[in-house]
Amino acid sequence: MADDNKPVEPNPTAAAHARPAAPKPPAAPMPDLAGKTTTAASAGGAAARTAAPAARPAAAAATGRDADDSSPLLNRRQWLGLAWGAFSAASAAALAATGRFMFPNVLNEPPQQFKAGLPTEYGMGVDERWKDKFGIWVVRTADDDTVHASGFYALITICTHLGCTPNYLPAENKFKCPCHGSGYHLSGVNFEGPTPRPLERARIVLADDGQILIDKSRHFQQELGQWMDPEAFLKA
Ligand code: FES
Repeated sequence: MADDNKPVEPNPTAAAHARPAAPKPPAAPMPDLAGKTTTAASAGGAAARTAAPAARPAAAAATGRDADDSSPLLNRRQWLGLAWGAFSAASAAALAATGRFMFPNVLNEPPQQFKAGLPTEYGMGVDERWKDKFGIWVVRTADDDTVHASGFYALITICTHLGCTPNYLPAENKFKCPCHGSGYHLSGVNFEGPTPRPLERARIVLADDGQILIDKSRHFQQELGQWMDPEAFLKA
């Protein structure tokens, strides 16, 4: 006979059946008809969209998005616009860089040949009007030491020592280089300082219109006997 007072052993199987049911996980998102995911929370939004179908095309037109596009990021059309903008900017930069090589640096040197006005515009002595622009002194003399005639010669304003530009010193009747002290007579012949040779003369002739024409592309050197060249001195 069974003992009613015997404590009852707990039944693990019964306990397991008596445990309260675990909470159910939220329902997985279900794709709606438009291919977008829908949750229970967004179901109200879907209902709202269904309730106001007429308002969507107007909003889509205003934002440039598709009518059913609720993505917070850029839509496909905007991405395409951005991509084209970046591509156009890169192309323009590359074109500009290429064009830069089509036009090399150009040195704007003064022309080698120029007209220096009429002989009657010059007095005796050194004229410095062309020194800064063309690097030339026009000298008018009554008796040139080399040619033994009156006329004009064009001295190039480059020191024959190391290439500095000498100064004309009227009070001392000479050219003096400020770099190392070379000195030149008005004829261009050197007489002091380290320079080993005279200044050079440039071609000087009379142009068809009667003006003095000076051509720096042709030099004449005294030590080579070139000052005797007819184009190294303009008789007048
Ligand atoms: S460069 Fe003229 S004296 Fe030296």
